[in-house]
Amino acid sequence: MDYDQFEEKFVMSEKKTKKDREWKKIYQSVFDHYTIGNLFKAFLKANLEGLIHIISLGKEANVFRAVTRNGEERAIKVYRVETSDFKHMYDYIEGDPRFPNVNKKKRKLIEAWCQKEFKNLSLAKKAGVSCPKPYAFSGNVLVMQYIGDKEPAPLIKDINLDDPEKAARLVVGDMRKMYKANLVHSDLSEFNLLYWKKKPWLIDFAQGVSLGHPKAMEFLERDARNISRYFSKLGVNITKEDVLKAVTK
Ligand SMILES: Nc1ncnc2c1ncn2[C@@H]1O[C@H](COP(=O)(O)OP(=O)(O)OP(=O)(O)O)[C@@H](O)[C@H]1O
Ligand SMILES: [Mg+2]
Repeated sequence: MDYDQFEEKFVMSEKKTKKDREWKKIYQSVFDHYTIGNLFKAFLKANLEGLIHIISLGKEANVFRAVTRNGEERAIKVYRVETSDFKHMYDYIEGDPRFPNVNKKKRKLIEAWCQKEFKNLSLAKKAGVSCPKPYAFSGNVLVMQYIGDKEPAPLIKDINLDDPEKAARLVVGDMRKMYKANLVHSDLSEFNLLYWKKKPWLIDFAQGVSLGHPKAMEFLERDARNISRYFSKLGVNITKEDVLKAVTK
């Protein structure tokens, strides 16, 4: 399937408006053949009907809003193959006992990375963490629960929190649930926390490692430092040590 066929079938934009011409340019620049093939497979697996619009265009991944045939919304994360920094990915996969034979070829590594995010989200969700429910993955494409209403949920750093202390408690509680489930997020900060339905939602789980990873405790300390630093700025009295103690006790 090439881009035009894919667009014809699955890109649900009203045609011919200026905005849609701009979208088309963006879509064409981010969907290469390999990605379109994976999108197509992911669409079948997750019963999707179409892509609605772009939520975020990033360095490593692009995130889209989509809808299923039953009218439920989904978020689709598409890892970039050409421009992503895959050396950094290798550090978070090599050493994780769940991925003993990681292939260093770029595509294979990105596929393992995407699969790792799917697995980490599944584990975290099962442990009761507030995070998107994962539905399917294929190659470099991950389908998950859409967090938001009419608009995608904002990052926690972009809003005024009513009760920062409660939000901090919830995040630390989620870190603890992950730890009990043998998992460390490893990229936790105000940049990977959404705020929706009056609580923080953890996102962006690809860096997550199991406790068997030799650097798991180092990553946990960094997460704890980020969380303490961010919530302290908002007036919450919480040190890195407090976070670590609450998570590991
Ligand atoms: N399930 C979701 N529901 C709604 N919005 C989402 C969801 N997942 C991600 N987003 C939005 O997409 C953005 C990027 O997602 P994420 O943090 O997972 O990717 P990333 O790896 O940080 O990408 P990059 O570093 O390339 O920007 C998030 O900041 C958030 O705004
Ligand atoms: Mg992120």
